[in-house]
Order: sequence, then C-alpha cells, then structure tokens
Amino acid sequence: MEILVNLKDEIGVIRPEIYGHFCEHLGECIYGGIWVGENSKIPNIAGIRKDVVEALKRVKVSVFRWPGGCFADCYHWQDGIGPKKERPKRVNYHWGKVIETNEFGTHEFIQFCKLIGASPYICGNVGTGSPKELRDWIEYCNFEGESTLSLLRKQNGSESPFNVKYWGIGNENWGCGGHFTPEDYASEYRRFSTFAFEFGQKISLIACGPGGNDLQWTEKFFKKITEPGNYINRINGYACHYYCGTAGTATEYSTDEWYQLLKKAIYMEKLIQDQRNLMDYFDPERKIELIIDEWGTWHRPAPGRNPSFLWQQNTLRDAMVAALTLDILNRNADKVGMANIAQTVNVLQSLILTFEDKIVLTPTYYVYQLYQKHQGGRSLKLFFDSPTVQFKTDNGMDSLRTLSGSASLKDKKIFLTLTNSHTEMEDEIKVSLHGEVKIKGVSGKIITHPDFKAYNTTEEEKVKIDDFEVKVVADKEIIFHLLPKSIYGLEISLR
Ligand code: AHR
Repeated sequence: MEILVNLKDEIGVIRPEIYGHFCEHLGECIYGGIWVGENSKIPNIAGIRKDVVEALKRVKVSVFRWPGGCFADCYHWQDGIGPKKERPKRVNYHWGKVIETNEFGTHEFIQFCKLIGASPYICGNVGTGSPKELRDWIEYCNFEGESTLSLLRKQNGSESPFNVKYWGIGNENWGCGGHFTPEDYASEYRRFSTFAFEFGQKISLIACGPGGNDLQWTEKFFKKITEPGNYINRINGYACHYYCGTAGTATEYSTDEWYQLLKKAIYMEKLIQDQRNLMDYFDPERKIELIIDEWGTWHRPAPGRNPSFLWQQNTLRDAMVAALTLDILNRNADKVGMANIAQTVNVLQSLILTFEDKIVLTPTYYVYQLYQKHQGGRSLKLFFDSPTVQFKTDNGMDSLRTLSGSASLKDKKIFLTLTNSHTEMEDEIKVSLHGEVKIKGVSGKIITHPDFKAYNTTEEEKVKIDDFEVKVVADKEIIFHLLPKSIYGLEISLR
C-alpha cells in the first residue's frame, strides 16, 4: 500500500491547544489524582503530586480546563481561596454528593498549570452563578493594578496576576449546566460576556456548544446571538462535547465491539465537518474557533468502584480511539483551536491512573507522548486508499476504513502518525513525499501489543512506545511493515 504525503498542500498550523486536557472535581481526578496535600507521604510540590507533574511534563500539556464539567456550574470560586482551614465544605452535587473541601482552588490550579507548563482554561459558572461572580473571578486572576480583589489575590500569595486567557461561559448549559434552550443560553451568553472584562492579556471567551453533533443547538444559538444586534465578535471559541461511549466493557470486548467503538470514535470527523459548515454560515470570516473541550471513551462503571466517580481501565482500544481522534483534529487544524480529552487522571479516558503512591501510565498516555511532536506543526494532506473491514453490530453489518493518519511539517521534519485498526491485517507500506524535498533520515516508533485487550498495571507495563524498523529507499520514499492493531509515529528529517 502507498501513502502519499503532499508537502504542497498545507491545511493550517496544528494549535498546541489541540493537545489539551481537562480535570474536574469528580471522583479521584483532583483529590488523590492531582492533589494530595502538603502533609501527604506521597511526594508532592506544595500538595500537588510530583509523579503526576513529571509524567504530564513529558507529554507537553498545552492547556488545562478546570474546574468542570458539570461541577463548574455549581462552583463558587470564592470558596476556594484563602486559608485552607477556613474554606467552606460543600456537597459535590453532581458527582456522588461527596464533600468538597475546597482545598484545591484557583491558586492551586494555577500552580499545577505552572508546574507542568500548561495554560489555564477556567470554566465559569452560568447555571448557579452570576455575571458579577465571573467578572470578579477574572479581575481576581488577571488585574495588575490595586483593586480590592487583586489585593486579595496578592494577600493569598500571588503578587503577579495569573493572566488566565481562556474563560468558558458555562458548561453543557443544555444539560447539567442549567437545561437552557439554545435561545435562552444565547441571551445568557450576551449578558455574561458583556461583563467579562479583559485585564491585561487579551482573554478568549468560549461559548457552550452542543452535546454531540446537535446542529439545532448550534443553529438556534447563533441565530439568537446574531439577531438583534450582532454579538458574534464576543465569541472566540465554540465548544462541543463528544463522548464515543463504549462497546462491551472497558476491558472485555469482542473483535466486533473493538470495531464498533472505533467507528463511533471516528464520528468526530463528521461532527467537526457538520458543525464547521454551519458555523461558516454565521461566521463566514471564520473568526470563531471550533473547540472540543470534552471528548473520549465512556465505559460502564468498573466493578467495585463508586459509579459516580467514572473510574475506568484503559486498554489498547482506548489508545486507538485517542490516536484516531488526534489525527482527525490534526486534519481539521484550520478550524479546531483546542481539544481537551476527558479527563487526565482517574476519570474516564485517563492518561494516568493512581494507586495510592504509585501511578500507571495508560495506553492513552503513550499516544499523547507519541503525538506531541505534531504541536505547532503545519498540517499536511495525506492520500491513500484504506482497506475496509466489515463487522457486526446490533442492527446488522457495518464497515470501517482501517488505515488512518495525519502529518505535519516543522523545522525541516515531517511527523507522520498512522493507525492500523485492523486486528489481523498486515502490509508493506511505502510512504512517498510529494514536494521539492529529499529525505535525510527517518526514525519510527510504535504502540501495539499482541493482545488487543492489553492494559497497563502497577506490576506490568504492556502497552508503551517501542522503536520499529523503517528504511529510506529513495530520496522521497520510505518503507516499513505495518502490523495489526498498531499506532505509528514516523519522524522524517529533510535535507
Ligand atoms: O466528564 C464528565 C462529565 O461529562 C462532565 O462533567 C460533563 O461536562 C460531561 O457530561
């Protein structure tokens, strides 16, 4: 099979923010996963787990979304500042009615972002909050001068402003964020965005888009935002959520269920195309970025775990979902401005699972480590004729194209990522470059395992990144052997 990389046709720059993450006050994501407190025996930096920080630094997290999720529309930021002992204890309404101690608040989140080198993205509270509360939060975080709120920030330990750029106006406001109609949410957006002042750095306001590919939400929201009076320039990003769900369970699935889930995952491509086409109608200059600020697998609750905590195991199949999705996002780099997998630690499609003082890096983690080289590259078009597999579903037969990929160009290097989701098929692959370039060298990395249900534990790391052989055979050609159920990263240096 031949794959053609076209260097003459660039899609756009792959924003590092596409490699973004999300952490919510949910289950053991924050408490136990990121935050253990200063007095913990688990090594920590001012309460934040050292092992998690070190692992996340290696995948180059560009941006972190916090504090939710559904939690965001119940969260009052003033609860999470000042001396920890005096912070109120609240009930975490959405996630198990557990006690939220507010030990991890704005300062702790910013410290966490600084430690891993990520930009903070704060999701504001529309459901139970007010425009004043959001405006005050922005002032507290970003105001350089001497207001009561900025002085309070200084008193709480941060002389310099946090310069938070990304601010979400609510989360899933069609659901847990208030069950608004798109028209009512658009009115709220107008009101909230009016008072979301910029202090210092230009801020980016993100509107709540649909759950899945709900085109009615998008159409009605944009109609109401644009008439009467055009408030569209108050929107910098428009955020959809897409969970591909499950097939079978997290760790038990048949070959058909493997394909069923991957087919649901690649629906992301249709979602992006449909949503961007509709957005183009209202925003023909394409000033608003499409954002996917929650995405990933969502398996059935793991036996023996609190079902409200959304803890799940993560196999080679989840890695395949991550790779297919990141390739889709790269291929839509001219419209997608940010994407945040849900969620970084211990919740849904995690990169890291913690077990007291130990951590496990999941197969999804290794996809992020492999793919980070795409960040900031110029996305290129690929051409190939993918094989197709047929598989059974509850409603009959379906099919899936089993070869997928994306490529980017940066610093005289092409980075090509490919997935072969076929569970059995192997092939010889020739990659040819189309453009005025010559290949200097190539290196190859692979993520795979003989068992398609393989996952990592504290005892054994089965799914990780390995080297594999790839040869330069001509000025513009390389060859390698494609294995079944495998994910590839090829770095091709150019003369
Ligand atoms: O990520 C878990 C939940 O999924 C989030 O809180 C919510 O936004 C979504 O429904």
